[in-house]
Amino acid sequence: MAKAKQSTKDETRTIKIFDTTLRDGEQAPGNSMNIEEKLRFAKQLQKLNVDVIEAGFPIASEGDFEAVKKVAQSIKGPEIAGLCRSNLKDIDRAWEALKYAGEKGRIHTFIATSDIHMKYKLQMEPAQVLESAVKAVKRAAGYTPNVEFSCEDAVRTQLPFLAQVVEAVIAAGATTVNIPDTVGYTVPFEYFNIIKYLKDNVPNIEKAVISVHCHNDLGLSVANSIAAIQAGAGQVECTINGIGERAGNCSLEEFVMILRTRRDILPFVTGIATEQLTPASRLLTNITGIAVQPNKSVVGANAFAHEAGIHQHGMLMDKSTYEIMTPESVGLTASALVLGKHSGRHAFKKRLEELGHDLDDEMLNRAFERFKALADLKKEVFDEDLDAIVTDESREEDQ
Ligand code: KIV
Ligand code: ZN
Repeated sequence: MAKAKQSTKDETRTIKIFDTTLRDGEQAPGNSMNIEEKLRFAKQLQKLNVDVIEAGFPIASEGDFEAVKKVAQSIKGPEIAGLCRSNLKDIDRAWEALKYAGEKGRIHTFIATSDIHMKYKLQMEPAQVLESAVKAVKRAAGYTPNVEFSCEDAVRTQLPFLAQVVEAVIAAGATTVNIPDTVGYTVPFEYFNIIKYLKDNVPNIEKAVISVHCHNDLGLSVANSIAAIQAGAGQVECTINGIGERAGNCSLEEFVMILRTRRDILPFVTGIATEQLTPASRLLTNITGIAVQPNKSVVGANAFAHEAGIHQHGMLMDKSTYEIMTPESVGLTASALVLGKHSGRHAFKKRLEELGHDLDDEMLNRAFERFKALADLKKEVFDEDLDAIVTDESREEDQ
């Protein structure tokens, strides 16, 4: 298959990575973190070199206020954001915590704009929502020029109203406008068209960065985020391990590695230090106690593990046969050839050699038969099992 043309430097756009593990991620059941844990994780996000860390929701609790304040005081490099509803009390409280980040502090304020949310949740008319949004952004802009506004449930919002709100909040001082798929409802081509619609219909859109924030209810959060940057979005909101409300948010590690792996057709880069992805994933698991599924892309335990004989043979010949990115690029030291019932003689022989067992052909054949019999009984055959097989074989040969 012919490869698409490599994108040139000039066509390449840098996408800002806004990490919300400490806010949206934390909102998922079982993921809440205390102040010390948030600070520990924020330090890892600093190593990852994310552009923005959303550290929490300052008005939500005293602890969250202190956590945002601590992160704002301690972390150098990334911008620090705090979430607040579109009311003056929330915004004032958020800035109390964020002011310690100085010009790196970002106020992130939001209000829902879809008919469903306005009617059932807010019980407000569209004109009132528009007024609140503008008032909130003006209040935030009085504290800092770094103001993000989110139209909650943007994907289910009537497009002319969405455009009206976006235009008004940019005029009021928003420098980033977020268009969230709050309920994980959209599909890539639809989301592409929504972002494109805003680019084509909001006259002052170029004054702000368009951000996207996708939930994963239908498993499309990463694909939707990719579609959005193709339509012109400049910031992607995501979380480590994809944690977040309900089915989670766009997974940072997946989004970033897609851009890195498919530079041939996706002319975008991020500033992420990708070798810090696995340490970030593991630290999060360590803090929350919530394990990542083994088959999770990029950071799952099996993401660079190979058991099938045909695959192992390919890997021993050339790793590019079955790996599209290197384990080193995401912070692992090596891929794993796991020995199990699907494994072949090549991988078996190689592992024995690594363990210091140099068997002649006849002995290798017998040991391999024993290995297969054992593998039928166990999920995985470990190094100690191999040592035992070789010891048994040697004993029998001596008798
Ligand atoms: O999902 C969502 O809409 C949010 C906003 C507050 C950005 O989390
Ligand atoms: Zn969200």
